[in-house]
Amino acid sequence: MTRQAIFITGAASGIGRATALQFHARGWFVGATDVDTEALAKLKTDLQEDCFTAKLDVTDKLQFDQVIKDFARASQERLDILFNNAGIAVAGYLDEVPFEKTLATLNINLIGVFNGIHASIHLLRATENALCFTTASSAANFGTPGMAAYSTTKVAVKGLTEALSVEFARFGARAADVSPGIIDTPLWQKSERYVHGEQRQIANIPEQNRSREDAGRTVAAEAVADCVWQAYHSDKLHWYVPEEVEERNRSAALDPEGTRDALIAQASKR
Ligand SMILES: NC(=O)c1ccc[n+]([C@@H]2O[C@H](COP(=O)([O-])OP(=O)(O)OC[C@H]3O[C@@H](n4cnc5c(N)ncnc54)[C@H](O)[C@@H]3O)[C@@H](O)[C@H]2O)c1
Repeated sequence: MTRQAIFITGAASGIGRATALQFHARGWFVGATDVDTEALAKLKTDLQEDCFTAKLDVTDKLQFDQVIKDFARASQERLDILFNNAGIAVAGYLDEVPFEKTLATLNINLIGVFNGIHASIHLLRATENALCFTTASSAANFGTPGMAAYSTTKVAVKGLTEALSVEFARFGARAADVSPGIIDTPLWQKSERYVHGEQRQIANIPEQNRSREDAGRTVAAEAVADCVWQAYHSDKLHWYVPEEVEERNRSAALDPEGTRDALIAQASKR
C-alpha cells in the first residue's frame, strides 16, 4: 500500500512546518512547498530528505499545476490532505495601507487557495476519503478592523469550505478549515503594519498575550498541526484553536451590531 500523503503550502515556517513535521513523524508522505526556499531546505533536512519539496508561489497557477504534477509522481498519485495554509498578514486601516499590499493579501490568502484546489482536485477525487483543509483565522469571527483584507480572505475561505464540502460529496472527498487565534509563529515578525501609508513595526501579540488564559492566549503552532490530524479523522467542518475561539465566533454571529459597537467604542479609547 502507498503511504498517505499531505501537500502543504506555506510549509517552511510556523503552522505549515509544524504540520509537516507531525505528519512525517506519523509515517505520512509530505509534500512541502513555500516561496522561502532557504527555510524549505532546512525542513527537508529535518525530515531526513524523506519528503517532496518544491518552491511554490501560490499566486502562480501555472507553477501550482506543475508542482502538483511533480508531487503526484512522487506520492504515487495520491493526495489524502491538501493543506491550503500559505498566508500573509498586513495591518492598517484600508485607506492607509498601500493598495498593492491589499491586493497581495487577497491574492495569496484567497486566490492562492482557489489555485491550489483547482490544481489538485483530480487527486482529491482519486484518493479515498481525501480532505481539503484550509487555514482560516479567528479574524473571520467578525470582520477585523485594521485587517480588512486579511479577515475578508479568512471569511471567504470558510464559505469555500462549506460550498466544497457539499460539492465534493459527489466523489467522497471532504472539506474543512481551522480558525486559529494567536499562534506563536514567525508570521508576527514578518507582518507589515501601515499608518498613513508608512510602514511601522507590528505589535508582538504572541509575546503580549503569553500570560492570558482566554481565547486570546498564545498557542503553539503544534496545536494547529494536531488539529489538522484530528480534522482528517472527523467530519467536523470548522475547527478552532484554541477551542474557545468558537464561542467568540458564535457571539459575534448572534449579535453583529453589539460586536461592531463594542469595537467602535474600543477603538475610540485608543
Ligand atoms: N500565527 C497566527 O497567529 C495565525 C492566526 C490565524 C491564522 N493564521 C494563518 O496561518 C497560516 C500560516 O501562518 P503562520 O502563522 O504559520 O505564518 P508563517 O509566516 O510562519 O508561515 C507562512 C508561510 O507562508 C509562506 N508564504 C507567504 N507567501 C507565500 C506565497 N505567495 N506562496 C507560498 N507561500 C507563501 C511564507 O514564506 C511562510 O513560510 C496563514 O494562512 C495565516 O494567515 C496564523
